[in-house]
Amino acid sequence: MDVSNVLIFCLVSLINHANGYNYLDIVKVAVYEHNVTLPPFTVIPVTRDEAVRNMMENLKVIEYQAKKASDQMLKVFPVIERITIRGAKLLVLPEDGLYGYLFTRRTIYPYLEQIPDPKDPASTPCPTSRAGSEVQCFLSRLAMETAMFIVANMGDKQPCNKSIDTHCPLDGHYQYNTDVIYNPSGKLIAKYHKYNLFYEPAFDVPNEPEIVTFETPFGLFGVFTCFDILFHDPPIELIQNKGVRNIVFPTAWFDALPHLSAVGFHSAFAVKWEINLLAANIHHPKQNAQGSGIYSIDGFTAYTYDNKDQNGRLLVSSIPILKSKPKADNSQNRFLRVHDGLKTSNYQVSDSEFKAPVFHDIYDFVLVSGDYGKREICQKDLCCSIVYNRTENKNDLYAFGAFDGLHTYQGTYYLQVCTLLKCQNTNFKSCGVDTTYAATTFEYLKMTSTSNGYIYPEVMLSNNGMLELSNRWNFTKDGVLSVIENLENPLLSASLISRVYSKDKV
Ligand SMILES: *[C@@H]1O[C@H](CO)[C@@H](O)[C@H](O)[C@H]1NC(C)=O
Ligand SMILES: *[C@@H]1O[C@H](CO)[C@@H](O)[C@H](O)[C@H]1NC(C)=O
Ligand SMILES: *[C@@H]1O[C@H](CO)[C@@H](O)[C@H](O)[C@H]1NC(C)=O
Ligand SMILES: *[C@@H]1O[C@H](CO)[C@@H](O)[C@H](O)[C@H]1NC(C)=O
Repeated sequence: MDVSNVLIFCLVSLINHANGYNYLDIVKVAVYEHNVTLPPFTVIPVTRDEAVRNMMENLKVIEYQAKKASDQMLKVFPVIERITIRGAKLLVLPEDGLYGYLFTRRTIYPYLEQIPDPKDPASTPCPTSRAGSEVQCFLSRLAMETAMFIVANMGDKQPCNKSIDTHCPLDGHYQYNTDVIYNPSGKLIAKYHKYNLFYEPAFDVPNEPEIVTFETPFGLFGVFTCFDILFHDPPIELIQNKGVRNIVFPTAWFDALPHLSAVGFHSAFAVKWEINLLAANIHHPKQNAQGSGIYSIDGFTAYTYDNKDQNGRLLVSSIPILKSKPKADNSQNRFLRVHDGLKTSNYQVSDSEFKAPVFHDIYDFVLVSGDYGKREICQKDLCCSIVYNRTENKNDLYAFGAFDGLHTYQGTYYLQVCTLLKCQNTNFKSCGVDTTYAATTFEYLKMTSTSNGYIYPEVMLSNNGMLELSNRWNFTKDGVLSVIENLENPLLSASLISRVYSKDKV
């Protein structure tokens, strides 16, 4: 080992130690939050040439960022700046990252390409004639040139025959919102058709949910897209039945506060399942779309939330290499969750209960006051409790709430939520209304839920009106969320968001 090698080794150990992972067990990956250049219009059909021109504008920016990700210069210490540490091995790009959104079935058509079945040995990702396959050829070449796995989102069209396929649309082909995965040799190794569409009349729902995985030298990965993350298929099928512990996740996510911000819910998902979740969002803060991350077993190794700057953002960071889990790790039923009232009987219990809507669901709430205390609140079959210590601020009103019911606004899914919320102002009627400002820090918090569903633990802080995540809290195997040291910044919300998939269909 010469001197520079020692230096690199020390530096890498230092960095990896900071992440809490061992040197040999990590891999560097990247996600790119892209400010998508939108086509001038999406209601009138354009020609294929115009569509390609628009997608190439986005692909040029993506190409620049991909090259940056694959060849990271270590700039921590200027003295070794010229020494290149090998870059990211995998890059995830956002959903709708090449053409945007709000298309009709007809106006998206010129943007679509017929994507071959990756399992078909005769298929080639980039035929000699590039016409009609411009995007696929570009991505294939980019993966090869950067020697990375590249995960991108694009539109797939697949011809069908109405006389033998009853689902075949009237115009004789399917149109799918599709993730494609290229390996470092430029080969298409997987594609996935989004199953849970979110108001996307341009696309068809596949007849069955597709459970798609792909192998890399650093573990088995699964893939799904955006709104899929709220449902059983494909996510739970991939994780519980296929044992997948790494997910690539292209998304075009419009934040819905307090519980469904991109950074909040996606990091909660990674913590709940103890997986790596590589989430790439589009960057359109004016539409409330921002927030991407490299989320991992106990929070994040990197994330971005910026609702002011218009620029995209590249994240590169190391994640632990996670081996697949054997099937039937039914973590759901591993614990008997009991409502133990948190064994602090000398705390005062408030009786000021009220109802208020949170994202169109009517919660039962109780106000949270004083420097410290204990609260309990129930709704239907769900009971929630907290014990807390905090630096009280008279301008901040907090409430603790419970919701047990079928959510029906912008999607139908069954929730059991326990949530401690900063209200928008000092009127209790504003509890549950969007806010990104708070001034109260919690130094101690324990929250329990009696839900037997799948609990996603989420903690959101406020950093001068920007959402912030924290790794300084715990979600223990018995379903308790706990904060035992001061959080870095004031608390916006702390929640146990339980999804009861079995009650989705009524
Ligand atoms: C981001 O996208 C918007 C809309 O396409 C565009 O007007 C703006 O110039 C872009 N900003 C940057 C920094 O590229
Ligand atoms: C559709 O299927 C029918 C029945 O097998 C066949 O006769 C017909 O040629 C097919 N049409 C096309 C366009 O492939
Ligand atoms: C909470 O604050 C009270 C009063 O200051 C103190 O007696 C108690 O020890 C604190 N509890 C925790 C868990 O910090
Ligand atoms: C999380 O839990 C572990 C094990 O119980 C404990 O060692 C650690 O201090 C806790 N961390 C935080 C931030 O609460």
